[in-house]
Amino acid sequence: MTFTKKIILTGSSGQIGQSFVNHLSNSKNDYYVYALDKKKSKNNKKNIQNVEIDITKEDEVVDFFSSINELYGLVNNAGIGVFTPFLSRTLEEFKKVLDVNLVGTFLMSREAIKIMIEAKFGKIINIGSIYGVNSSDYRIYGESGRNNSEVYSMSKSGIIMLSKYLATHFASDNIQINTISPGGLERNQAQGFIEKYNIKNPTGRMGSPNDLLPALDFLLNEQNEYINGENIIVDGGFTKW
Ligand SMILES: NC(=O)c1ccc[n+]([C@@H]2O[C@H](COP(=O)([O-])OP(=O)(O)OC[C@H]3O[C@@H](n4cnc5c(N)ncnc54)[C@H](O)[C@@H]3O)[C@@H](O)[C@H]2O)c1
Repeated sequence: MTFTKKIILTGSSGQIGQSFVNHLSNSKNDYYVYALDKKKSKNNKKNIQNVEIDITKEDEVVDFFSSINELYGLVNNAGIGVFTPFLSRTLEEFKKVLDVNLVGTFLMSREAIKIMIEAKFGKIINIGSIYGVNSSDYRIYGESGRNNSEVYSMSKSGIIMLSKYLATHFASDNIQINTISPGGLERNQAQGFIEKYNIKNPTGRMGSPNDLLPALDFLLNEQNEYINGENIIVDGGFTKW
């Protein structure tokens, strides 16, 4: 690599996004981070550019990429969920989740790959979820009213498949596209839920954004030209019983 390692990160204002921005901008690898979010991030370091963008809007995505001519990596992290029961799911809710999680990731990936092909280099990391691999266990949600939804799982298995598809189609252009699928991260959930989740988790605790950083570094490593289309599950072993 002869150029600056410019990385685009979506969902940069969120729980995982903030951790990734801090980590990448402090890395010894001299990354330059485009911190994208619907709500503009407030990072003020010279190697971070905050960009306000709705990734579901094709014109906004294309317009953003018109100013980018070299790219080391793209981390498709923006994502949303919905927690109401399936039988009360509205079509609007359903489409909104697919719009952010799948349409947004598709638009960002398409534009990034156009640039990466020219350089014959690129790393794309898509953030999936354990619920793109396994269905959620409703027994641990109890009466909380927050249950993981069908459409979230559908979108995340779609992300895993998109990574495989793109990995196979652009491997010959030296572009690696992989998924990181986190388990549940702790974030003010009801105590009863956390306790049940922890019992089910071999590691005995929920995750934190820091738990994802080794996988992020691993997949962004310049030397990786051969791990492609993988889904790295980072869940403390939750899905391994
Ligand atoms: N937190 C968890 O427990 C967990 C577990 C597994 C997977 N994930 C996945 O990790 C990713 C990040 O999760 P998080 O917990 O940090 O979420 P978060 O809600 O804290 O952050 C998501 C960010 O995405 C942004 N965003 C939403 N819609 C957008 C749009 N249309 N355009 C641009 N930005 C948009 C939001 O403004 C927000 O800042 C998501 O894809 C999520 O599905 C999270």
